[in-house]
Amino acid sequence: MSKIEQTLSIIKPDAVERSLENEIKEIFVTNGFSILKEKKIQIEKSEAEKFYKVHETKPFYNDLCEYLSSGPILVMVLEKENAVLGNRKLMGATNPKDAEEGTIRKKYGISIDKNSVHGSDSSDNAKSEIDFFFED
Ligand code: CDP
Ligand code: MG
Repeated sequence: MSKIEQTLSIIKPDAVERSLENEIKEIFVTNGFSILKEKKIQIEKSEAEKFYKVHETKPFYNDLCEYLSSGPILVMVLEKENAVLGNRKLMGATNPKDAEEGTIRKKYGISIDKNSVHGSDSSDNAKSEIDFFFED
């Protein structure tokens, strides 16, 4: 069943640093996503730790939080039918080496940690991630 959904997308520091925001936004729009909200911010490590709390026991947690807070990011709310899954497909696998041709991570990702984009992985997480950045 298809439903209009919203999902949270982040263009991560490695991509903002290379000025890829407009190219990546264009990919979303070309693929039928509406960008409902966006803001360019730099977050504190403590905020990254909250955002990625689900990963707190993972060996990469500290580096991940250091990294997400290391420079400006572009945070967006994307909307489309089945936006969560659609965005995950368009992003490609977490490790750019495993990402399919035509995906954002295949095209722009540098490594598993510098993989250019974040996308919510479920409808519930999308809601809480959108609140995290846009509820004030
Ligand atoms: O971002 P995605 O949902 O695809 O992957 P995740 O498993 O939720 O991991 C979150 C982020 O942690 C990834 O996007 C990577 O940037 C990073 N990560 C890492 O640095 N090393 C790993 N072995 C796995 C993930
Ligand atoms: Mg994830």
